[in-house]
Amino acid sequence: MPSVIIIGANRGIGLGFAKLFSKYDNWNIYATTRNVQATGELGNISENISIYKLDVVKPVDVSNLAKEFENKNIDLIIHNAGVYGHNMTRAEVMEVNSLAPFKVIDSLMPSLLRGDQKKIAILTSQMGARNGGKTPTGVYGASKAALNDQYRIVELEWRKRGISSLVFHPGWVKTDMGGSSAPVEIKESVIGMYSVLEELCLENSGRFMDWRGMELSW
Ligand SMILES: NC(=O)c1ccc[n+]([C@@H]2O[C@H](COP(=O)([O-])OP(=O)(O)OC[C@H]3O[C@@H](n4cnc5c(N)ncnc54)[C@H](OP(=O)(O)O)[C@@H]3O)[C@@H](O)[C@H]2O)c1
Repeated sequence: MPSVIIIGANRGIGLGFAKLFSKYDNWNIYATTRNVQATGELGNISENISIYKLDVVKPVDVSNLAKEFENKNIDLIIHNAGVYGHNMTRAEVMEVNSLAPFKVIDSLMPSLLRGDQKKIAILTSQMGARNGGKTPTGVYGASKAALNDQYRIVELEWRKRGISSLVFHPGWVKTDMGGSSAPVEIKESVIGMYSVLEELCLENSGRFMDWRGMELSW
C-alpha cells in the first residue's frame, strides 16, 4: 500500500488532496494540521487517514513528526502549506513559504528514501515566476520565487538520491486564499495535479507544472 503525506491538509487544496487520495483505496494517507483538536472535515474523510500535528515553522513540531515516521515509509510528500501573508511580516512569510518546505522535507527524508516511489511535490505559485519579463508580485510572490530558486538547487541533489520531484502552480483556486471569485474548483485542481504526479519520474523531474499538466517557465 503506497503512502502519501500531505502537509497542511485541514482546508483548501490540502484537504482536497486528502479527499482525493481517500477515494483511491490503495493509498495510506498521512495528513498534517496545526490544530489536531479541531480537525473538522479532515478527521471524517476516511479510516485510512492518520493525522499529525505540524506547524511548519515550529522546530519542535518538525522533529516530533520526524520521530513519528522513524519506522514508517513514505512514497509521496505533498508540501501544500502556505500563506498569502496578510498581517504577517516579510520574514514570517518567507519562513513559511520559502524555508519551511525544505526543513519539513529534510526531516522526512529517511522515510521517503525507504519508500518505493520516492516522489515530492511542493505547492508554489505562478506569482513567484519571472516568466515573460514579469517580476514576482509582492511579498507572497517573492516568497514563492525564493522557494522556486531553492527547489531548483536541491532538486539536483534529490534526483541523485533517486527522488523525482516537481513544484506545482495549482491554478487560481477557490479556497480561503484564492477567494470566491477564483475560476478553478479545488476538485478540478487536485485531480489535475494527481494526474501529473502519476507521470512523475526521474526523467521528467525538476519541472514547474500547473494543474493541467502544462510546464511553466521559471
Ligand atoms: N488558492 C490559490 O489560488 C493558490 C494559487 C497558487 C498557489 N497556491 C498555493 O497552494 C497552497 C495551498 O493554498 P490554499 O489556497 O489551499 O490556501 P488556504 O486555503 O489558505 O490553506 C492554507 C493551508 O496551509 C496551512 N498553513 C499555513 N501556515 C501554516 C503553518 N505555519 N504550518 C502548517 N500549516 C500551515 C493552513 O493551515 P491553518 O488552517 O492552520 O491555517 C492551511 O491548511 C499554498 O502553498 C498556496 O500558496 C494557492
